[in-house]
Amino acid sequence: MAYPKEFEKSIRKVEETREERLKKLPERMKEKEKDELLKKWHPDYKPEAKRKLKVGVSKGSIVPNEVADIIEAYPLIKPDEIDLSQVDYEADVLIIGGGGAGTAAALYAYYEGIKPENIIIATKLRHGDSNTIMAQGGIQAADKPNDSPLIHYLDVIGGGHFANKPDLVARLVMDAPLIIKWHEELGVMYDKKPDGEMITIHGGGTSRKRMHSAKDYTGMEIMRVIRDEARNVGIKVLEFSPAIELLTDGNGRVAGALLYNLETEQYYVVRAKATIMATGGFGRLHIQGFPTTNHYGATADGLVMAYRVGAKLRDMDSVQYHPTGVAYPEQIVGLLVTEKVRSLGGQPVNVDGEQFVHPLEPRDVEAAAIIRECYGRNKGVVTPTGMRGVWLDSPMIDMIHGEGTIERRLGAMFRMFSRFGIDMRQEPILVFPTLHYQNGGIEIDADARVLGKNGTIEALFAAGEVEGGVHGKNRLMGNSLLDTQVFGRIAGINAARYAKKARKPRSLSLEHVNKYVQELKKARIKEERKAPLLLPDYRGKEVLSRAIDIL
Ligand code: FUM
Repeated sequence: MAYPKEFEKSIRKVEETREERLKKLPERMKEKEKDELLKKWHPDYKPEAKRKLKVGVSKGSIVPNEVADIIEAYPLIKPDEIDLSQVDYEADVLIIGGGGAGTAAALYAYYEGIKPENIIIATKLRHGDSNTIMAQGGIQAADKPNDSPLIHYLDVIGGGHFANKPDLVARLVMDAPLIIKWHEELGVMYDKKPDGEMITIHGGGTSRKRMHSAKDYTGMEIMRVIRDEARNVGIKVLEFSPAIELLTDGNGRVAGALLYNLETEQYYVVRAKATIMATGGFGRLHIQGFPTTNHYGATADGLVMAYRVGAKLRDMDSVQYHPTGVAYPEQIVGLLVTEKVRSLGGQPVNVDGEQFVHPLEPRDVEAAAIIRECYGRNKGVVTPTGMRGVWLDSPMIDMIHGEGTIERRLGAMFRMFSRFGIDMRQEPILVFPTLHYQNGGIEIDADARVLGKNGTIEALFAAGEVEGGVHGKNRLMGNSLLDTQVFGRIAGINAARYAKKARKPRSLSLEHVNKYVQELKKARIKEERKAPLLLPDYRGKEVLSRAIDIL
């Protein structure tokens, strides 16, 4: 066994209580109980961890300090030093971001009639490097006889604490079945029963089994297939080329972007009739010092760029901490332990092997319960480096579903722990919440058009984690992959329709950046930080040491 000796006593207790726990799950929490738990133990409810924005369209709204830091940062460039007269690339549709949302958008722009050579995906790292490719558990879609988009809708709205934009939720749930069908046609290999019926399971907060998955590699499987499709149809992809500012035509219409090639350190000007922001989320900002499940490029660049051009932000005060990030071994702290482990029967239990929460409460509730168990009730397991966590009793899965289930359906998890000598079929695994998702973002309408102070911002669309409104204050499992595909599709179609009617922007401007700088100066914000960040800077920091002041 690869666990330290001091874990042994606790693991014995987990084993001793297992048979009994198999018979009965804890009750689901009542609303009042949930509210009290969240207020006291969820990191979102720490007022000192947030502040009001001092500038821009959403001035006055409350966001995490780390988000305010980058929103109130100065640009990487001096606009007057950039030569916009030299256009390096022309596009009908420019997509910023090459993850699930960006790639789906590119494909649907193509299906809508835009020639592939006139579609550009500009991506920070390689095509596909994104949170999509790292997504494990599944994608929700109400496509079974006992389910319906209406029931899915109610789950999403309830999970989001009724703060979601109803029209966005309606699009999410209504379009979900057609996305699964599209994936199937392209060749995504979802898990199926021998008779061909899709296997669907529960996620936290779902009232029906509607999680479709491809083992615990769901995002990788979807990305594999849609990236291949984008290559097959010939969509142009600029890798290692993050956008660092949007461009406008000088009259408020977005007209493309300025890219920065990370390899050659050159700027490239892309003029586009329509632009889609699909840059993903902010996990690498390590809100409140939490480790994260996110990929290295998740530095909220899209929020920064869109905000400077006048996009509104919403629900940025809420952050998703996935209940089960790895808490041991140290080398992989914060990486995702998919919710599917709980969906398949793995129970969270404390140092004494006791159940303390239903395994499938919505994520914010589940995470808060784990934090309370470790820091409020002192019932966590303390690791050799002083971190705390609770057990996720994974051996129950094979007991419930039969030997071989973990290897067959949780292959990624099994391999991840095996590398450190931990056999999750035999021993429980240690977990603690980890920063997982940006619940809010740039406000869009149901056509994926970005909203500013006075309505839509012309020629700018957004899809995926960068946009807000779909999930309210708390996203449910399996609705992020779905969001990337549904709103990627909608953005691609609508950007294509716009581009087909629009003229090429006549002029290109970065004047909005100058104006933003003036606002920063007027608010007396010192020129200490620059954004977009592009990549996180870990020098001299101890982000992996759980620097959270829970108490
Ligand atoms: O737990 C998970 O597999 C994560 C899924 C999600 O965030 O949707």
